[in-house]
Amino acid sequence: MTGKPRILIARAISPEVVQRLEQHFEVESNQDDVVWSPQELVRKLQGKDGMLATGLQAIDAALLAACPQLKIVANMTVGYNNFDVPAMTAAGVQGTNAPDVLTETTADFGFALLMATARRISESEHYLRAGKWKDWRYDLFAGAEVHGSTLGILGMGRIGQGIARRGAHGFGMKVIYHNRSRLSPELEAECKARYVSKDELLASADHLVLVLPFTPENRHAIAAAELAKMKPTATLINIARGGIVDDAALAGALREQRIAAAGLDVFEGEPAVHPDLLAVPNVVLTPHIASATRGTRLAMADLAASNLIAFFEGRGALTPVNTPAG
Ligand code: DGY
Repeated sequence: MTGKPRILIARAISPEVVQRLEQHFEVESNQDDVVWSPQELVRKLQGKDGMLATGLQAIDAALLAACPQLKIVANMTVGYNNFDVPAMTAAGVQGTNAPDVLTETTADFGFALLMATARRISESEHYLRAGKWKDWRYDLFAGAEVHGSTLGILGMGRIGQGIARRGAHGFGMKVIYHNRSRLSPELEAECKARYVSKDELLASADHLVLVLPFTPENRHAIAAAELAKMKPTATLINIARGGIVDDAALAGALREQRIAAAGLDVFEGEPAVHPDLLAVPNVVLTPHIASATRGTRLAMADLAASNLIAFFEGRGALTPVNTPAG
C-alpha cells in the first residue's frame, strides 16, 4: 500500500475520534449523518481499505464482491449481526466489534428499563401529562415488586452478568439464568445466579431480561409458546436485538394481559415498531439507546478506531470476530 490507508466512517461519530483517525488515515467521514443506501455505501467504499461501521451497515457477499480493496470493517457496537462472518472470512476481510466498553452502561439501562416497566413509570407519566390525575387511589398504577423478586436472565454474557450483579447485590433479587453454556462456579457465586433450564426460567421469573446475541437460531426465541409459559404477572425486557422476540405475539400477550408488561429497546425491523405494540399501554418503548451515554458512545467509537489503527499498523485487530482467510 502506498500512502496512508483510506477509510470510510459510515455515520456521524464523536469529532475527537474522527480527528484521531485523521492522524493515521485518509478519512472520508459522514458527520452530516446521512443514511446511505446499500448502493451508496458500495459507491463510497470504492478505493477504501477499511470502514468504521455502526452495526447497521450490512456487510454481505454482494458488498464484499463489489469492494475488493476492503480489508477491515470495525463495528463500534458489540453486536455484529450486520456481518456475514463466513463471507467476510472467505473474502479475507477482518471484522471487529466493540465488547466490554459498553457492558456496565448497558446493564444500567437494562435495569432502568426493568424498573420503569415493573413500576409503570411511562404509563403513569402519560396519564399525568394527559391531565387525568384527579386523586390518590390505593391501586393507582400498582405495579410489580422489584426487590426480593425473581430475576431471570436469558443470555449470560458480560451484560447479563452485570444485570445479575445489580439485581442480586442491589435489590436482593433471586437470580436465575439460562445460557448456551453454564458460568464457572466462581462467576455464578459472584453473580449469585443459579443455572436453570429455559422452561424453568420462563415459568419462574418475575422479570425476564433478554441479553442474548442475535443468531438465526435465536430468532423468535421468545414467541407465543414461550410467552404462554410465563407468569401472568411477569415483565419481559428486551435489550438484546430485534427479532429475538416475536413482536406480534408479544403485543397480543400484552393486550390480553397474558403477561403484565414489557420493556423494549430493540424491535423487529427497527426503526419501524410493530403497530400493535404502539397500541398497548403496558409496554415501555425506547429507541435502541441501551449503550447511549456520552462517555460510552465515545469509548465505543474509540475502540473501533483502535482496531483500525492496530490492524493497519500490522499489530492485529484488538477485538476480532473472525480470522480472515489468506
Ligand atoms: C451494540 O453494541 O450492539 C448495541 O446494541 C448498540 O447500541
